Amino acid sequence: MKVSIIGGGGRVGSCAAFALQCGGAVSEIQLLDANVALAEGEALDLLHGAAFAADQRIYAGDYARAADSDIFLITAGLRRKPDESRLDLIHRNVGLFRQILEGIRTGGFRKDAIVFVVSNPVDILTQLAAKELGLCWRQVIGLGTQLDTSRFCSLIADELKLAPTQVRALILGEHGDSMAPIWSSATVNGLPLAGLPGFNPAIQTRIFARTRGSGAEVIQRKGGAGWAVALAICDTIHAIALDQRRLQPVSSLQQGAYGIRNICLSVPTVIGRKGVLDQVEIALWPKEKTALQNSARALQETLQKVKG
Ligand code: 2OP
Repeated sequence: MKVSIIGGGGRVGSCAAFALQCGGAVSEIQLLDANVALAEGEALDLLHGAAFAADQRIYAGDYARAADSDIFLITAGLRRKPDESRLDLIHRNVGLFRQILEGIRTGGFRKDAIVFVVSNPVDILTQLAAKELGLCWRQVIGLGTQLDTSRFCSLIADELKLAPTQVRALILGEHGDSMAPIWSSATVNGLPLAGLPGFNPAIQTRIFARTRGSGAEVIQRKGGAGWAVALAICDTIHAIALDQRRLQPVSSLQQGAYGIRNICLSVPTVIGRKGVLDQVEIALWPKEKTALQNSARALQETLQKVKG
């Protein structure tokens, strides 16, 4: 299984490469970046640790050498300038993203390749890739609210002094301001979270507010996420590489679950080697379903503003 990371010289891309090296489930990792020296430096630094990690081929390359990739992981993106609006950033990143899509097209790709988008605004860029690359929509996945879900579970565990790996609670919808917390199915080791002593609406409000603001909280302190987003990426890449059929909150082109169509956002999604195997409409509280549909509307409005 070969993964080519477009933006591999950047923080997210290089952290993702390290997570894939530690995970050992893929056999080949290629780093591509506009800053070639940076991609080469990161690839070398990773290669130097291979003897203590996994038997993989790790190198820096270009789109031509990426043509045989099973997965194109796209992490490249511009950061918002201090005085820049979110929409201005979207327009700049859409332009860069279309150059990346052109690079993949020009270099060539396997007909069964998976395109996995992490760059922001991830739902909008996933939609562009799903519509403009010429692959089946099932082969285009966005990280979506997979990272938000990890943050949500980890913060719940931290607040309630639980084991993070036993907490399961979904964030669905947009990876952005309109993301929706799904408390109705939140559990710890399979037991309803609602039954826990000390669990109350005030704690729910606080934890979700912190989850929703986590991206900004990290950016303010260290400039941008790296470790958690890398682990979230690795979880999905392993589901693809090992054809695990794992149910994950990742973004893909919606086909009607919850009455939502033709927009990319995160619903519970079965992931395997062929990409999106199913989009699962799990039961939600009415207010959760409404929040998810509001998220779809917010994304549709943003999509209309993106220049053609
Ligand atoms: C975040 O929320 C990178 O968008 C990602 O930190």
